[in-house]
Amino acid sequence: MNENDSLIYVIFGASGDLTKRKLVPALYSLFVQKLLPEKFALLGASRSQFTDDEFRTAMKSAILEFKEIDDTSEIEAFVQHLHYTSLKFDDGVTYVPLKERIEKLREQKNINGNTIFYLSTPPSLYGIIPQQLASIGLNNQTDGWKRIIIEKPFGYDLESAIQLKDQLLCDWAEEQLFRIDHYLGKETVQNLLVTRFSNGIFEPLWNRNYIHHVEITSAESIGVEQRGGYYETSGALRDMVQNHLLQVAAIAAMESPSSLEPGAIRNEILKVFQSLRPIRKEDVKTNAIRGQYVASHIKNEPIPGYREEEGVNPNSVTETYAALKFYIDNWRWGGVPFYIRTGKRLPTRVMEVVIHFKATPHFLFSRGTQNNSSNQLVIRIQPDEGILLKFGMKTPGAGFEVQTVNMDFHYSDLAHQRIPSAYERLIYDSIKGDSTLFARTEEVLEAWKFLSPVIDCWKNEHEAPLYGYPAGTWGPENADDLIGDKKITWRYPCKNLSNDGIYCEL
Ligand code: BG6
Repeated sequence: MNENDSLIYVIFGASGDLTKRKLVPALYSLFVQKLLPEKFALLGASRSQFTDDEFRTAMKSAILEFKEIDDTSEIEAFVQHLHYTSLKFDDGVTYVPLKERIEKLREQKNINGNTIFYLSTPPSLYGIIPQQLASIGLNNQTDGWKRIIIEKPFGYDLESAIQLKDQLLCDWAEEQLFRIDHYLGKETVQNLLVTRFSNGIFEPLWNRNYIHHVEITSAESIGVEQRGGYYETSGALRDMVQNHLLQVAAIAAMESPSSLEPGAIRNEILKVFQSLRPIRKEDVKTNAIRGQYVASHIKNEPIPGYREEEGVNPNSVTETYAALKFYIDNWRWGGVPFYIRTGKRLPTRVMEVVIHFKATPHFLFSRGTQNNSSNQLVIRIQPDEGILLKFGMKTPGAGFEVQTVNMDFHYSDLAHQRIPSAYERLIYDSIKGDSTLFARTEEVLEAWKFLSPVIDCWKNEHEAPLYGYPAGTWGPENADDLIGDKKITWRYPCKNLSNDGIYCEL
């Protein structure tokens, strides 16, 4: 028997939002593409009481609503693999029936011991659930592999992350833990690796000699929606910077791995984290800016401020915007500033990495409208996924005036090629046992260590101001001061990759 042809997929938190929006639609998409093991059962586990049939009906609607693949003809066949059991996560007694249910499914469907436990629960349960599973032997790999997938956040700060790591590693091996950072599953983030390491033209330029600075933006136009309660314990720094943005920055900055082995790529990412120049306590104020959106109007619609959102403390000092300047102290990047920013209720949803090249040493021509350097390489993660190169060209007519023009590639031009969702890719990799695109413990701890001075300083409002910014704008103007150099500004990206500017269509 092929040891990988069977699997039980247990989702803790199966009645939650992530399961219906992302996990089950991604699993359905894999099912349609025949990428799930032949013998497969999904067992949803949550506090709520559902019968198998009720769970199936709810998941059918979820697949239709959050569709990842056009073919819906196999929904009925897929949901026959779905089952449900209710469970009190912190009550050891209820894990015994869970184990019995798993064993019964195995017997009925002739499935071996291969099991994935997906923790789509509040982070406070990331220690307890694996401990309970281990206490009834569900971490034992003699009859098949056992893996745990953990959503972020992994800890709340360095101390709690170390505690969680110690707790998990008591009963589970590092190879069994798959820490999801869904940005690593995005096709365009992986393409950053391919762009850099499959094209000889970029590598000679990808360093301090030619690059002036690197800018990474992850903007969202939505507010905190129904997640006020969670967001209050998190804020932009923990929610986006500690994980997604630092991971993307590391991929933009890393050395070429020696192979595509999981260890090889993850070692290079770790080396970048280890080379981050620590932010000194006294520099936090000038290297990190935080903001919170305040009520405003967007397209004539009134938009509430963060403090008016559901589940948010009316005096909250949680940041909904964070911008950081930092350096990577190694041979390649010595002296090159990295600017990263993220925020809720910004003008548009966009994520991009922009490599700003240095200007020519002597500028011969009149500049027209162009600023210091015309050369930027924009790697657009989402939306309108693609790559854009900006360069100077002669403005037709008399004289030698230079204008900046674009050369662009849009993924949408690859007709008939579907971009799989991040969850689809990561779930597939976890089934295959490929941990390349998952964050390793050391990476997570290094990221927390790097941000510790900022976290400590931001605990205290009078040490670092929390700036308000009207919903629908590009965050606090004070973020411009991070850059320091008056000839440079943040980019104002638009929905469409080829446009930018503060007034472009959003
Ligand atoms: C999540 C954050 O990890 O990423 C959310 O918790 C954020 O606050 C989301 O909205 C953004 O993900 P994406 O894939 O929509 O860019």
